Amino acid sequence: MVQLALPKNSRPVDGKAWPKPAGANRLTEFRIYRYDPDGESNPRIDTYWVDRDDCGPMVLDAILWIKNKVDPTLTFRRSCREGICGSCAMNIDGTNTLACTKATDDIKGVVRIYPLPHMPVVKDLVPDLSGFYAQHASIQPWLQTTSPEPEKEWRQSPDDRHKLDGLYECILCACCSTSCPSYWWNGDRYLGPAALLQAYRWLIDSRDEATGERLDNLEDPFRLYRCHTIMNCAKVCPKGLNPAKAIAEIKKMMVTRQF
Ligand code: SF4
Ligand code: SF4
Ligand code: FES
Repeated sequence: MVQLALPKNSRPVDGKAWPKPAGANRLTEFRIYRYDPDGESNPRIDTYWVDRDDCGPMVLDAILWIKNKVDPTLTFRRSCREGICGSCAMNIDGTNTLACTKATDDIKGVVRIYPLPHMPVVKDLVPDLSGFYAQHASIQPWLQTTSPEPEKEWRQSPDDRHKLDGLYECILCACCSTSCPSYWWNGDRYLGPAALLQAYRWLIDSRDEATGERLDNLEDPFRLYRCHTIMNCAKVCPKGLNPAKAIAEIKKMMVTRQF
């Protein structure tokens, strides 16, 4: 069962300080958020020392090193280790990003790692993203048409295809939505930047024939209009995308809509 990691206003306490590995020349201190739904001292910050000459350069390499050599209970998600699957998103050194593409050397001093903010925590660095995925599903992220099926593929001109650049590359890591203050406070009703970026991706797809229905689905004081152009989303996106711009484009479509 998923539980909220933090009761309101509670702060993690200092947890276990693991010993420094013997004989290491280059050590980096990691302070990592821990939460165990079945454990005690929740939540807490554990301290680890990583032998940098014994592991790869990225933060994901370091936490895998900790898991394999120091503390097998440390829990996090990862899969591709090359910025494609989006599963290793976490808050590192105060910014939401991907552990597999963040170099440990780019962080000065202690490396502090927390789960993505303002989400329920399943365990340690694993947030519960079921609400986030449900919001993505709610924008119906697939091609919708009423015309008769073509014999081969639905065709698109190169110019129309280029309109999808900067949109289709989203890996659904949730770094943007969980950095958005509007999403923090209204995450149950505001769709957030990731889902809205994808909503726009389908709204401007020249092959899609459900534009009116898609706009109707967003026409609501909360689902779309809670974006206040704070721009955290664009600042943190590890793929360099700009959800705030996409949201502004949807708002323009709402004003000029003829569907
Ligand atoms: S621009 Fe909009 S979606 Fe992006 S962080 Fe700000 S309020 Fe959130
Ligand atoms: S827009 Fe960027 S930050 Fe947001 S979910 Fe997609 S890839 Fe992640
Ligand atoms: S492990 Fe896939 S994006 Fe980091």
